[in-house]
Amino acid sequence: MTRDDARALDAQDPLARFRDAFQLPEGVIYLDGNSLGPPPTAALDRLRDVAAREWGRDLITSWNVNGWMAAPLRVGGKIAGLVGAKPHEVAVADSTSVNLFKLAAGALELRPGRRVILSETGNFPTDLYVLEGLARTAGAELRAVAPDAVLDSLTDEVAVLVLTHVHYRTARRWDMAAVTAAAHAVGALVLWDLSHSAGAVALDLNGCGADLAVGCGYKYLNGGPGAPAFLFVAERHLNGIRSPLSGWMGHAEPFAFEDGYRPSGDIRGQLCGTPSVLGLAALEAGVDLQAQADPAAIEAKGQSLCDLFIAEVERRCGRFGVELATPRARTQRGLHVSFAHPDGYPIVQALIARGVIGDFRAPDLMRFGFAPLYLSHEAVWRAAEILEEVLATGAWERPEFRARAAVT
Ligand SMILES: Cc1ncc(COP(=O)(O)O)c(C=O)c1O
Repeated sequence: MTRDDARALDAQDPLARFRDAFQLPEGVIYLDGNSLGPPPTAALDRLRDVAAREWGRDLITSWNVNGWMAAPLRVGGKIAGLVGAKPHEVAVADSTSVNLFKLAAGALELRPGRRVILSETGNFPTDLYVLEGLARTAGAELRAVAPDAVLDSLTDEVAVLVLTHVHYRTARRWDMAAVTAAAHAVGALVLWDLSHSAGAVALDLNGCGADLAVGCGYKYLNGGPGAPAFLFVAERHLNGIRSPLSGWMGHAEPFAFEDGYRPSGDIRGQLCGTPSVLGLAALEAGVDLQAQADPAAIEAKGQSLCDLFIAEVERRCGRFGVELATPRARTQRGLHVSFAHPDGYPIVQALIARGVIGDFRAPDLMRFGFAPLYLSHEAVWRAAEILEEVLATGAWERPEFRARAAVT
Protein backbone atom coordinates (compact mmCIF):
# COMPACT_ATOMS: atom_id res chain seq x y z
CA MET A 1 0.00 0.00 0.00
CA THR A 2 1.26 3.49 -0.81
CA ARG A 3 0.58 6.66 1.13
CA ASP A 4 -1.79 7.68 -1.68
CA ASP A 5 -3.70 4.41 -1.32
CA ALA A 6 -4.15 5.19 2.38
CA ARG A 7 -5.33 8.70 1.52
CA ALA A 8 -7.82 7.24 -0.93
CA LEU A 9 -9.32 5.14 1.87
CA ASP A 10 -9.55 8.26 4.03
CA ALA A 11 -11.36 10.12 1.26
CA GLN A 12 -14.23 7.62 1.63
CA ASP A 13 -14.21 7.57 5.43
CA PRO A 14 -17.72 8.20 6.80
CA LEU A 15 -16.25 9.00 10.24
CA ALA A 16 -13.66 11.56 9.10
CA ARG A 17 -15.58 14.49 10.57
CA PHE A 18 -15.08 13.18 14.12
CA ARG A 19 -11.33 13.90 14.03
CA ASP A 20 -11.93 17.60 14.70
CA ALA A 21 -13.96 16.83 17.81
CA PHE A 22 -10.81 15.73 19.68
CA GLN A 23 -7.87 17.59 21.19
CA LEU A 24 -4.73 15.85 20.04
CA PRO A 25 -1.28 17.45 19.93
CA GLU A 26 0.15 18.27 16.49
CA GLY A 27 2.55 15.68 15.19
CA VAL A 28 1.33 12.87 17.43
CA ILE A 29 -0.06 9.61 16.06
CA TYR A 30 -2.03 8.36 19.01
CA LEU A 31 -2.30 4.57 19.05
CA ASP A 32 -3.17 4.22 22.72
CA GLY A 33 -6.87 5.13 22.77
CA ASN A 34 -7.53 1.54 23.85
CA SER A 35 -5.85 2.47 27.14
CA LEU A 36 -6.69 6.15 27.61
CA GLY A 37 -8.79 7.95 25.02
CA PRO A 38 -7.86 11.57 24.19
CA PRO A 39 -10.11 14.43 25.32
CA PRO A 40 -13.09 15.34 23.20
CA THR A 41 -13.25 19.15 23.06
CA ALA A 42 -16.82 18.89 24.35
CA ALA A 43 -15.56 17.06 27.46
CA LEU A 44 -13.12 19.86 28.28
CA ASP A 45 -15.85 22.49 27.76
CA ARG A 46 -18.22 20.47 29.89
CA LEU A 47 -15.70 20.09 32.71
CA ARG A 48 -15.12 23.85 32.76
CA ASP A 49 -18.86 24.47 32.90
CA VAL A 50 -19.53 21.92 35.62
CA ALA A 51 -16.71 23.30 37.74
CA ALA A 52 -17.36 27.02 37.30
CA ARG A 53 -21.12 27.30 36.89
CA GLU A 54 -22.66 24.20 38.39
CA TRP A 55 -20.30 23.70 41.30
CA GLY A 56 -19.07 27.29 41.65
CA ARG A 57 -22.38 29.11 41.28
CA ASP A 58 -25.23 26.66 41.80
CA LEU A 59 -23.48 24.82 44.61
CA ILE A 60 -25.45 22.07 46.29
CA THR A 61 -28.64 22.82 44.35
CA SER A 62 -26.87 21.20 41.38
CA TRP A 63 -27.72 17.74 42.66
CA ASN A 64 -31.23 18.50 41.45
CA VAL A 65 -31.18 21.52 39.14
CA ASN A 66 -28.17 20.40 37.14
CA GLY A 67 -29.05 16.71 37.12
CA TRP A 68 -26.08 15.48 39.14
CA MET A 69 -28.09 12.88 41.03
CA ALA A 70 -29.60 11.51 37.84
CA ALA A 71 -26.25 11.30 36.03
CA PRO A 72 -25.34 7.62 36.76
CA LEU A 73 -28.55 6.37 35.17
CA ARG A 74 -28.73 9.08 32.50
CA VAL A 75 -25.23 8.33 31.21
CA GLY A 76 -25.83 4.62 31.69
CA GLY A 77 -28.89 4.89 29.48
CA LYS A 78 -26.78 6.49 26.76
CA ILE A 79 -24.11 3.78 27.03
CA ALA A 80 -26.89 1.19 26.72
CA GLY A 81 -27.43 2.44 23.18
CA LEU A 82 -23.80 1.66 22.37
CA VAL A 83 -23.76 -1.88 23.72
CA GLY A 84 -27.10 -3.32 22.63
CA ALA A 85 -28.86 -2.94 25.97
CA LYS A 86 -32.01 -1.22 27.17
CA PRO A 87 -31.54 2.14 28.91
CA HIS A 88 -32.73 0.82 32.28
CA GLU A 89 -30.21 -2.04 32.19
CA VAL A 90 -27.06 0.12 32.42
CA ALA A 91 -25.65 2.42 35.09
CA VAL A 92 -22.38 4.28 35.52
CA ALA A 93 -20.64 3.88 38.85
CA ASP A 94 -17.38 3.10 40.56
CA SER A 95 -14.51 1.47 38.64
CA THR A 96 -14.50 -1.58 36.42
CA SER A 97 -12.78 -3.55 39.19
CA VAL A 98 -15.44 -2.63 41.75
CA ASN A 99 -18.30 -3.29 39.33
CA LEU A 100 -16.86 -6.68 38.53
CA PHE A 101 -16.83 -7.51 42.23
CA LYS A 102 -20.42 -6.37 42.69
CA LEU A 103 -21.81 -8.28 39.74
CA ALA A 104 -19.80 -11.46 40.28
CA ALA A 105 -20.97 -11.48 43.91
CA GLY A 106 -24.54 -10.90 42.75
CA ALA A 107 -24.20 -13.77 40.27
CA LEU A 108 -23.04 -16.15 43.02
CA GLU A 109 -26.18 -15.34 44.98
CA LEU A 110 -28.34 -15.87 41.91
CA ARG A 111 -26.97 -19.42 41.65
CA PRO A 112 -27.22 -20.80 45.19
CA GLY A 113 -25.56 -24.18 45.60
CA ARG A 114 -22.94 -23.42 42.94
CA ARG A 115 -19.58 -22.23 44.25
CA VAL A 116 -17.33 -21.98 41.20
CA ILE A 117 -16.37 -18.76 39.48
CA LEU A 118 -14.86 -19.77 36.15
CA SER A 119 -12.43 -17.57 34.26
CA GLU A 120 -9.40 -17.87 32.02
CA THR A 121 -5.72 -17.67 32.88
CA GLY A 122 -4.19 -14.60 31.30
CA ASN A 123 -7.36 -12.58 31.86
CA PHE A 124 -6.75 -8.94 32.75
CA PRO A 125 -5.08 -9.05 36.19
CA THR A 126 -7.64 -6.95 38.03
CA ASP A 127 -10.38 -9.37 36.96
CA LEU A 128 -8.55 -12.36 38.39
CA TYR A 129 -7.46 -10.50 41.52
CA VAL A 130 -10.97 -9.23 42.23
CA LEU A 131 -12.45 -12.68 41.68
CA GLU A 132 -9.80 -14.19 43.95
CA GLY A 133 -10.79 -11.74 46.70
CA LEU A 134 -14.46 -12.42 46.14
CA ALA A 135 -13.92 -16.19 46.26
CA ARG A 136 -12.09 -15.75 49.57
CA THR A 137 -14.78 -13.63 51.19
CA ALA A 138 -17.73 -15.55 49.75
CA GLY A 139 -16.37 -19.04 50.36
CA ALA A 140 -16.36 -19.70 46.63
CA GLU A 141 -13.70 -21.14 44.34
CA LEU A 142 -12.02 -19.25 41.52
CA ARG A 143 -11.19 -21.69 38.75
CA ALA A 144 -9.01 -20.05 36.09
CA VAL A 145 -8.37 -22.40 33.18
CA ALA A 146 -6.51 -22.02 29.88
CA PRO A 147 -8.60 -20.19 27.27
CA ASP A 148 -9.05 -23.29 25.13
CA ALA A 149 -10.31 -25.23 28.18
CA VAL A 150 -12.98 -22.68 29.15
CA LEU A 151 -15.91 -24.23 27.30
CA ASP A 152 -15.08 -27.76 28.48
CA SER A 153 -14.89 -26.49 32.07
CA LEU A 154 -18.49 -25.36 32.06
CA THR A 155 -20.11 -27.77 34.50
CA ASP A 156 -23.09 -27.64 36.82
CA GLU A 157 -20.73 -26.45 39.58
CA VAL A 158 -20.20 -23.14 37.79
CA ALA A 159 -22.22 -20.20 39.06
CA VAL A 160 -20.68 -17.60 36.78
CA LEU A 161 -18.23 -17.47 33.92
CA VAL A 162 -16.23 -14.23 33.84
CA LEU A 163 -14.44 -13.36 30.60
CA THR A 164 -12.98 -10.30 28.97
CA HIS A 165 -14.69 -10.07 25.60
CA VAL A 166 -11.68 -8.57 23.77
CA HIS A 167 -8.41 -9.65 25.35
CA TYR A 168 -6.25 -6.80 26.60
CA ARG A 169 -3.01 -8.23 25.22
CA THR A 170 -3.85 -10.01 21.99
CA ALA A 171 -7.24 -8.44 21.12
CA ARG A 172 -8.63 -11.97 20.69
CA ARG A 173 -12.42 -11.74 20.80
CA TRP A 174 -14.73 -14.33 22.31
CA ASP A 175 -17.89 -15.22 20.44
CA MET A 176 -20.30 -13.65 22.91
CA ALA A 177 -23.45 -15.39 21.68
CA ALA A 178 -21.89 -18.86 21.48
CA VAL A 179 -20.13 -18.67 24.86
CA THR A 180 -23.22 -17.28 26.55
CA ALA A 181 -25.34 -20.08 25.10
CA ALA A 182 -22.82 -22.72 26.27
CA ALA A 183 -22.84 -21.29 29.81
CA HIS A 184 -26.61 -21.12 29.89
CA ALA A 185 -26.78 -24.74 28.76
CA VAL A 186 -25.21 -25.77 32.10
CA GLY A 187 -27.20 -23.23 34.09
CA ALA A 188 -24.33 -20.77 34.60
CA LEU A 189 -24.40 -17.01 34.18
CA VAL A 190 -21.85 -15.03 32.18
CA LEU A 191 -20.24 -11.75 33.22
CA TRP A 192 -18.47 -9.98 30.36
CA ASP A 193 -15.72 -7.40 30.79
CA LEU A 194 -16.24 -5.04 27.86
CA SER A 195 -13.33 -2.72 28.63
CA HIS A 196 -11.72 -3.23 25.20
CA SER A 197 -15.03 -3.66 23.36
CA ALA A 198 -17.33 -0.76 24.23
CA GLY A 199 -16.97 2.00 21.68
CA ALA A 200 -14.83 -0.25 19.49
CA VAL A 201 -16.69 -3.31 18.25
CA ALA A 202 -20.43 -3.41 17.60
CA LEU A 203 -22.06 -5.03 20.62
CA ASP A 204 -25.47 -6.61 21.05
CA LEU A 205 -25.69 -7.68 24.69
CA ASN A 206 -29.37 -8.52 24.60
CA GLY A 207 -29.15 -10.12 21.19
CA CYS A 208 -26.50 -12.45 22.65
CA GLY A 209 -28.59 -13.22 25.72
CA ALA A 210 -25.94 -11.68 27.99
CA ASP A 211 -26.57 -11.67 31.73
CA LEU A 212 -24.10 -9.20 33.17
CA ALA A 213 -21.33 -6.91 31.94
CA VAL A 214 -18.91 -4.23 33.06
CA GLY A 215 -16.62 -1.89 31.14
CA CYS A 216 -14.23 1.06 31.29
CA GLY A 217 -15.18 4.67 30.61
CA TYR A 218 -11.70 5.95 29.85
CA LYS A 219 -10.73 3.82 26.85
CA TYR A 220 -12.75 3.96 23.62
CA LEU A 221 -15.51 5.97 25.32
CA ASN A 222 -13.01 8.81 25.87
CA GLY A 223 -14.31 9.66 29.35
CA GLY A 224 -10.96 10.84 30.73
CA PRO A 225 -8.40 9.46 33.18
CA GLY A 226 -10.06 7.39 35.88
CA ALA A 227 -13.51 7.93 34.36
CA PRO A 228 -16.26 6.02 36.14
CA ALA A 229 -17.09 2.62 34.71
CA PHE A 230 -20.38 1.14 33.55
CA LEU A 231 -22.27 -2.01 34.43
CA PHE A 232 -25.07 -3.91 32.72
CA VAL A 233 -27.65 -6.21 34.31
CA ALA A 234 -30.11 -7.91 31.96
CA GLU A 235 -33.70 -6.95 32.71
CA ARG A 236 -34.58 -10.49 33.81
CA HIS A 237 -31.97 -10.32 36.62
CA LEU A 238 -32.64 -6.77 37.79
CA ASN A 239 -35.08 -7.61 40.50
CA GLY A 240 -33.18 -10.63 41.84
CA ILE A 241 -29.57 -9.53 41.85
CA ARG A 242 -28.20 -7.88 44.98
CA SER A 243 -25.06 -5.82 45.35
CA PRO A 244 -22.69 -6.80 48.18
CA LEU A 245 -21.79 -3.10 48.45
CA SER A 246 -25.16 -2.03 49.78
CA GLY A 247 -24.48 1.68 49.93
CA TRP A 248 -27.14 4.33 50.29
CA MET A 249 -27.36 5.17 46.59
CA GLY A 250 -28.61 1.65 45.97
CA HIS A 251 -31.31 1.94 48.61
CA ALA A 252 -34.93 2.10 47.48
CA GLU A 253 -35.18 5.54 49.13
CA PRO A 254 -31.72 6.98 49.87
CA PHE A 255 -33.14 10.13 51.42
CA ALA A 256 -35.43 8.29 53.80
CA PHE A 257 -32.28 7.73 55.88
CA GLU A 258 -33.53 4.43 57.27
CA ASP A 259 -31.34 2.23 59.44
CA GLY A 260 -31.96 -0.89 57.40
CA TYR A 261 -31.03 -1.51 53.78
CA ARG A 262 -33.89 -1.92 51.35
CA PRO A 263 -32.47 -2.49 47.87
CA SER A 264 -33.80 -0.61 44.92
CA GLY A 265 -35.16 -3.33 42.66
CA ASP A 266 -33.83 -1.73 39.49
CA ILE A 267 -30.39 -0.88 38.11
CA ARG A 268 -30.00 1.74 40.85
CA GLY A 269 -29.51 -1.16 43.23
CA GLN A 270 -25.99 -1.48 41.79
CA LEU A 271 -25.01 2.03 42.83
CA CYS A 272 -23.12 2.38 46.08
CA GLY A 273 -22.00 5.88 47.08
CA THR A 274 -22.16 9.48 45.91
CA PRO A 275 -21.67 9.74 42.13
CA SER A 276 -18.40 11.11 40.77
CA VAL A 277 -19.87 14.22 39.16
CA LEU A 278 -16.81 15.57 37.37
CA GLY A 279 -15.95 12.15 36.03
CA LEU A 280 -19.50 11.58 34.86
CA ALA A 281 -19.58 14.97 33.14
CA ALA A 282 -16.50 14.23 31.04
CA LEU A 283 -17.69 10.70 30.30
CA GLU A 284 -21.10 11.93 29.18
CA ALA A 285 -19.46 14.19 26.61
CA GLY A 286 -17.41 11.27 25.30
CA VAL A 287 -20.46 9.02 25.14
CA ASP A 288 -22.55 11.69 23.39
CA LEU A 289 -19.90 11.95 20.72
CA GLN A 290 -19.67 8.21 20.29
CA ALA A 291 -23.45 7.95 20.03
CA GLN A 292 -23.40 10.11 16.89
CA ALA A 293 -21.48 7.43 15.00
CA ASP A 294 -22.85 4.14 13.72
CA PRO A 295 -21.30 1.27 15.76
CA ALA A 296 -21.01 -0.89 12.63
CA ALA A 297 -19.14 1.91 10.84
CA ILE A 298 -16.85 2.32 13.87
CA GLU A 299 -15.96 -1.35 13.87
CA ALA A 300 -15.55 -1.51 10.08
CA LYS A 301 -13.18 1.45 10.00
CA GLY A 302 -11.23 0.17 13.01
CA GLN A 303 -10.78 -3.21 11.36
CA SER A 304 -9.65 -1.54 8.17
CA LEU A 305 -7.02 0.40 10.17
CA CYS A 306 -5.92 -2.83 11.89
CA ASP A 307 -5.63 -4.66 8.55
CA LEU A 308 -3.58 -1.84 7.09
CA PHE A 309 -1.22 -1.77 10.08
CA ILE A 310 -0.78 -5.55 10.13
CA ALA A 311 -0.02 -5.70 6.42
CA GLU A 312 2.39 -2.76 6.45
CA VAL A 313 4.25 -3.85 9.59
CA GLU A 314 4.64 -7.41 8.33
CA ARG A 315 5.84 -6.19 4.94
CA ARG A 316 8.26 -3.61 6.31
CA CYS A 317 9.35 -5.08 9.63
CA GLY A 318 9.03 -8.85 9.33
CA ARG A 319 12.77 -9.08 8.67
CA PHE A 320 13.46 -7.55 12.11
CA GLY A 321 11.75 -10.42 13.95
CA VAL A 322 8.44 -8.66 14.64
CA GLU A 323 5.64 -11.25 14.99
CA LEU A 324 1.90 -10.74 14.94
CA ALA A 325 0.24 -11.79 18.23
CA THR A 326 -3.31 -10.80 17.26
CA PRO A 327 -5.80 -12.93 15.30
CA ARG A 328 -5.86 -12.14 11.59
CA ALA A 329 -9.61 -12.63 11.15
CA ARG A 330 -11.60 -9.46 11.72
CA THR A 331 -14.40 -11.33 13.46
CA GLN A 332 -11.96 -12.79 15.99
CA ARG A 333 -10.36 -9.60 17.23
CA GLY A 334 -11.05 -6.16 18.68
CA LEU A 335 -9.44 -2.91 17.58
CA HIS A 336 -5.92 -3.21 18.86
CA VAL A 337 -3.01 -5.05 17.33
CA SER A 338 -0.04 -6.52 19.17
CA PHE A 339 3.30 -7.51 17.75
CA ALA A 340 5.81 -9.53 19.74
CA HIS A 341 9.49 -8.61 19.75
CA PRO A 342 12.06 -9.42 22.45
CA ASP A 343 13.06 -5.72 22.54
CA GLY A 344 9.49 -4.48 22.45
CA TYR A 345 9.90 -2.12 25.38
CA PRO A 346 12.72 0.08 24.03
CA ILE A 347 11.22 -0.06 20.54
CA VAL A 348 7.94 1.38 21.88
CA GLN A 349 9.89 4.07 23.76
CA ALA A 350 11.74 5.00 20.57
CA LEU A 351 8.39 5.21 18.75
CA ILE A 352 6.98 7.47 21.45
CA ALA A 353 10.01 9.74 21.10
CA ARG A 354 9.03 10.06 17.41
CA GLY A 355 5.43 10.90 18.20
CA VAL A 356 3.91 7.45 17.67
CA ILE A 357 2.28 6.57 20.97
CA GLY A 358 1.58 2.90 21.56
CA ASP A 359 2.29 0.84 24.65
CA PHE A 360 4.09 -2.26 25.82
CA ARG A 361 2.77 -5.27 27.69
CA ALA A 362 5.37 -7.51 29.31
CA PRO A 363 7.13 -9.66 28.45
CA ASP A 364 7.36 -8.77 24.77
CA LEU A 365 4.21 -7.22 23.27
CA MET A 366 4.10 -3.90 21.46
CA ARG A 367 0.44 -2.93 21.52
CA PHE A 368 -1.24 -0.43 19.20
CA GLY A 369 -4.87 0.68 19.43
CA PHE A 370 -6.87 1.89 16.43
CA ALA A 371 -9.67 4.09 17.69
CA PRO A 372 -11.71 4.93 14.60
CA LEU A 373 -13.06 8.36 15.56
CA TYR A 374 -9.78 10.25 15.29
CA LEU A 375 -7.34 8.08 13.36
CA SER A 376 -6.83 8.13 9.61
CA HIS A 377 -5.48 5.41 7.34
CA GLU A 378 -2.69 7.78 6.37
CA ALA A 379 -1.63 8.23 10.00
CA VAL A 380 -1.60 4.47 10.52
CA TRP A 381 0.40 3.99 7.34
CA ARG A 382 2.89 6.57 8.59
CA ALA A 383 3.12 4.84 12.00
CA ALA A 384 4.17 1.62 10.26
CA GLU A 385 6.75 3.56 8.26
CA ILE A 386 8.16 5.10 11.47
CA LEU A 387 8.33 1.66 13.10
CA GLU A 388 10.37 0.47 10.14
CA GLU A 389 12.71 3.47 10.52
CA VAL A 390 13.17 2.75 14.24
CA LEU A 391 14.03 -0.88 13.56
CA ALA A 392 16.18 -0.29 10.48
CA THR A 393 18.31 2.42 12.13
CA GLY A 394 18.58 0.70 15.53
CA ALA A 395 17.27 3.94 17.06
CA TRP A 396 15.70 1.96 19.90
CA GLU A 397 19.08 0.76 21.17
CA ARG A 398 19.78 3.99 23.06
CA PRO A 399 20.13 3.36 26.85
CA GLU A 400 17.41 5.86 27.81
CA PHE A 401 14.81 3.81 25.95
CA ARG A 402 15.55 0.79 28.12
CA ALA A 403 14.87 2.52 31.45
CA ARG A 404 11.46 1.38 32.63
CA ALA A 405 8.94 3.90 33.92
CA ALA A 406 6.52 2.95 36.72
CA VAL A 407 3.53 3.19 34.40
CA THR A 408 4.03 1.82 30.95
C1 LIG B 1 -10.03 -5.86 30.62
C2 LIG B 1 -9.83 -4.80 31.64
N1 LIG B 1 -10.57 -4.78 32.75
C3 LIG B 1 -10.43 -3.82 33.70
C4 LIG B 1 -9.49 -2.83 33.53
C5 LIG B 1 -9.23 -1.77 34.55
O1 LIG B 1 -10.13 -1.67 35.55
P1 LIG B 1 -10.07 -0.41 36.54
O2 LIG B 1 -10.58 0.76 35.77
O3 LIG B 1 -10.90 -0.81 37.67
O4 LIG B 1 -8.64 -0.18 36.90
C6 LIG B 1 -8.70 -2.80 32.38
C7 LIG B 1 -7.71 -1.73 32.22
O5 LIG B 1 -6.92 -1.67 31.34
C8 LIG B 1 -8.87 -3.80 31.43
O6 LIG B 1 -8.12 -3.82 30.34
